[in-house]
Amino acid sequence: MKKLLELITEEMEKAFSEAGYKKEYGKVTLSNRPDLCEFQCNGAMAAAKEYHKAPIAIAGEVAEKASFMEKPVWSEITAVAPGFLNISLSKSFLKEYLDTMFTEFKYGLEEVARPLKILVDYGGPNVAKPLHIGHLRAAIIGESIKRICKYMGNEVIGDIHMGDWGLQMGLIITELSHRKPELVYFDEGYAGEYPKEAPFTISELEEIYPAASARSKEDEAYKEEALRATFELQNGRKGYIALWNHIMEISIADLKRNYQKLDVHFDWWKGESDVQKYIGDMVSEMKKDGYAYESEGAIVVDVAEESDTKEVPPCMILKSDGAALYTTTDLATLKERRLLFDPDQVIYVVDKRQEMHFVQVFRCAKKTGIVRDDIALDFLGFGTMNGKDGKPFKTREGGVMRLETLIADINEEMFRKIKENHDVEEEEGRETAKTVALAALKYGDLSNQATKDYIFDIDKFTSFEGNTGPYILYTIVRIKSVLHKFFEEGGELSEPAVNEAGSPSEKELELSLTKYNSVIESAYEELAPHRLCSYIYEVANAFNRFYHENKILTEEDPEKKVGYISLLILTKELLEECIELLGFSAPERM
Ligand code: ARG
Repeated sequence: MKKLLELITEEMEKAFSEAGYKKEYGKVTLSNRPDLCEFQCNGAMAAAKEYHKAPIAIAGEVAEKASFMEKPVWSEITAVAPGFLNISLSKSFLKEYLDTMFTEFKYGLEEVARPLKILVDYGGPNVAKPLHIGHLRAAIIGESIKRICKYMGNEVIGDIHMGDWGLQMGLIITELSHRKPELVYFDEGYAGEYPKEAPFTISELEEIYPAASARSKEDEAYKEEALRATFELQNGRKGYIALWNHIMEISIADLKRNYQKLDVHFDWWKGESDVQKYIGDMVSEMKKDGYAYESEGAIVVDVAEESDTKEVPPCMILKSDGAALYTTTDLATLKERRLLFDPDQVIYVVDKRQEMHFVQVFRCAKKTGIVRDDIALDFLGFGTMNGKDGKPFKTREGGVMRLETLIADINEEMFRKIKENHDVEEEEGRETAKTVALAALKYGDLSNQATKDYIFDIDKFTSFEGNTGPYILYTIVRIKSVLHKFFEEGGELSEPAVNEAGSPSEKELELSLTKYNSVIESAYEELAPHRLCSYIYEVANAFNRFYHENKILTEEDPEKKVGYISLLILTKELLEECIELLGFSAPERM
């Protein structure tokens, strides 16, 4: 279904043609002055130069033609100084447009003409280290990007890309060997089977890693041991591999639980360890093809380009001790992704401080032919989540805030607010609080442009008023409750059809709904979930104004009442569709 602005533009182009001007001048946009009109066309200003005529004269002629058009899309079109065309949309045209939205697939959204295979790399937790809020943004933004790409008709895979192969594993192994040296995993002569049961629980694991990490910073010999253990693990020492498997199993179960709470779901649970097998051949090939060369003992590939304004250092593939790096793993991952999925596009949702890393990886992958020439590699770097003091968000004690704690805190606060609002059973209240808290958290994040830093403000995010998740949900719940009453009172609706708007607030709501297809499309093209947020905020505001200014259930004209109810249904469905794309949902009551 064509976008509303396209339809109005087409008509305006006709008007320009009929008035004797090039149709290219007929582009219509949303009004800059919503107090004066709904849409505007500035074409006469530009045409004035070509036709050597006063813009207002051209605008006047076009407006004249436009007023006499058959079945016009506008109800009023006026030429105003110095040469603008102000447009009000025809109410019957608007009604028709909305009624068509009801019947169209995805409310008239046009899916992409050629579906792409898209891989979204997001989440990126580090196994055995507790999830912290730095990983929250990756999860929230990535999940929404994935859903938007899918909704547009693409074939999409979400890959968690765990950090599961680094020094943290060597640290845990070392610490464990100090605490429990008697375990068979450390006996190099051991030839039997390793126990099925892990020698630690998740909470022990969570305590072991920070302890080991802290000690390695003070104790040089200990650090050497951990590096050695990492090296031995990576070279297949059996006892260490067995331990690694335990660490993975326990951590992944814990990660799954946490991501489940966030309603974040991955198609692939792959990690850095999965691609180690490609590294040897990959590096040899890069050398053979003359891309990789030795520099100060390390193996590097030049990736600087003439147009660079900032220095882009060579991409290091192997360190002088032969060890692979973060870059190496990301390159090998692209190799594997090509083998397993052959994506047209890979989108990385990662902290923006890693931008240079990705510039190097992308250039190196293209240069060395690891990826297809025509692949799109996109880095969606996000900013930091700060506390109210403007510094990276910390616990009250100044430590790194764990994701679980943060979620528990916001659930608690939401529960308190819900209880304050009305009397509710403990159990139901807790469930509702979880749903609303997730919306608060996700909306609080997604309503900001991803690249920007933002301030995590629990009071603001959980508020029922203003530009917040709970406000959006509150609006949906309000609509649900009106609809519920309507049907409970025996109301019937065979085929939804909205009214030709009677009041300004009804028209405003109708107008806001028409933007659905164009908003989703731009959120997709710009990889910008915040566009969806501003849209649903606009719709929610328009709805609430409409709700306060019109009597819906007590409307006496049955046809008009059905028109209202239809409008409510469409509003609710579009809002729900959008929050689904943002990654949260609405409760029945709140
Ligand atoms: N594990 C990494 C970190 O915590 C993020 C991984 C991002 N994805 C990637 N393909 N490098 O910083």
